[in-house]
Amino acid sequence: VTGRLTLTWANDDRALLSNGETGYEWVSKDDPRVREVRLLDEVGRVGDVSGDASDNLLIRGDSIDALRALVYSPEYAAEYRGKVKLVYIDPPFNTGQAFEHYDDSLEHSVWLGMMRDRLVLIRELLSSDGSVWVHLDDAEMAYCKVLMDEVFGRSNFVATIVWQKVYARDNRTDISASHDSILVFTINREVWKNSRTLLTRTLEQDALYKNPDNDPRGAWASDNFSAKAGPGRRKEQFFTIVSPAGNSFYPPSGRCWVYTEPRYEELLADNRVWFGVDGTASPRVKRFLSEVQAGVVPETWWPHGEVGHNQEAKQEIKTLFAGINPFATPKPERLLERIIHIASNPGDIVVDAFAGSGTTAAVAHKMRRRWVTSELSESTVETFTKPRLAKVIAGEDLGGITTSAEWEGGGGFRDLRIAPSSWEVVDDSAGNDVFQADATDNDVLTRAVTAQLGYLPVGHPVFNGAKGRSRLAVVPGVVDAVAVGDIVSALGDGETVLVAALSHTEDASATLRELSRGSRIIRIPGDLFPPQSAVTR
Ligand SMILES: C[S@@+](CC[C@H](N)C(=O)[O-])C[C@H]1O[C@@H](n2cnc3c(N)ncnc32)[C@H](O)[C@@H]1O
Repeated sequence: VTGRLTLTWANDDRALLSNGETGYEWVSKDDPRVREVRLLDEVGRVGDVSGDASDNLLIRGDSIDALRALVYSPEYAAEYRGKVKLVYIDPPFNTGQAFEHYDDSLEHSVWLGMMRDRLVLIRELLSSDGSVWVHLDDAEMAYCKVLMDEVFGRSNFVATIVWQKVYARDNRTDISASHDSILVFTINREVWKNSRTLLTRTLEQDALYKNPDNDPRGAWASDNFSAKAGPGRRKEQFFTIVSPAGNSFYPPSGRCWVYTEPRYEELLADNRVWFGVDGTASPRVKRFLSEVQAGVVPETWWPHGEVGHNQEAKQEIKTLFAGINPFATPKPERLLERIIHIASNPGDIVVDAFAGSGTTAAVAHKMRRRWVTSELSESTVETFTKPRLAKVIAGEDLGGITTSAEWEGGGGFRDLRIAPSSWEVVDDSAGNDVFQADATDNDVLTRAVTAQLGYLPVGHPVFNGAKGRSRLAVVPGVVDAVAVGDIVSALGDGETVLVAALSHTEDASATLRELSRGSRIIRIPGDLFPPQSAVTR
């Protein structure tokens, strides 16, 4: 067998169209509805915002539309594409149960298609030192690992974090699940290793350092003096060491000393070799607390004592929203605190495309990160996500990590909604025909075309968008040769124009080519969605 190892599933060559809260549908990858860059309508503001793409953003709607807007619509792409430090997602686990607030029983291949489409966009958002953390349980974890190997490259897999989500055993089942898994991938593992933050050393960890010999350099812990004798070992790592009490030691079978004999002599002279209180034990090397790195390297095992458990998360939501049935599957703030601490710094951008009750955004905000979060369910946004984040900003959320993060309120966010599709697609045997949707007025049409074609919106009497030296003129009607002349006369030196019109007269294209080389006319909406094979971006 040759070639790459890949995961295949039913319909993996098709695209998945989200029908909002009603579910998903497989369609052709050419279908305009799975390629449309949706507009984001502002429905509200909370706290202090500047009113542009650089604010914290709560987006109501499907994560695919939110991610596509961040990656492709130029005003957002300028802020987010290649600039996001951390993406944490806690998608529906596909456990086959229906929670009160959302449905978690997607068909297996639909789940994989749903995740693939979003992970591909997430990869576009991440910065070169960014990472993505995907929270799952056993239902899909193994499949998602293989999928992510394909999307991010197997060498960029960092670890599977094992989070102890419950402390009580479930005696009704065969094997009681005590953990969730969090898959961690980077854009470049080497780069990430140098940028990620160590965990703060705890008092218990410090207490492991002692000073039995009253060394003036302070407390120390001891490390093994022998190591597995791998292929890189040297002859100088095999020698006899005699302890102060006269006992002789040689590396145990299959092992060698960590250091060569000359290095051992140096360490001995510097009082860095320890043979036990009475000088009879086999050698160990002293590691001083004052010399170890400022923190500790994170491990894969995250017990609930350190980062909370499911009940703690539920309690946090109950405290925030007394008297209402809490959100079904919130994550504890301490869990997100650790992830955000490791994978980002204050001021960095954190994205969570499956917001739920808004834990990621709430914790990111308290930790002084910028954030974007999207949630499909309007009622979840209304009941939990938005009010929770508003409380964080007002300084009224006193729970979770508020005290440890010394959070007292401040900042703000924009509340956005994915606008309805501007197009209507009629699926017939000859393929897809695309029309302007009834609700699309001229203003929406112009903005939608500008975003779809990747032009940055500009306020100009003739042009609607700019991309390098190219200008975009959207004409929600017929363009004739006279109109073409007017448009071209507004161009600056060295600029060309793309005219997007509902239709044009026969002489319009010829006139445009004549007046401005490199300029052209396209038809709305048909030419906005050329077959995928012709798409270069
Ligand atoms: C497991 S919950 C997330 C819980 C969250 N981490 C918290 O701490 O509250 C998954 C959430 O994803 C939402 N969701 C499901 N499919 C979605 C989609 N396609 N786009 C956006 N959100 C979606 C569900 O409505 C649900 O609120």
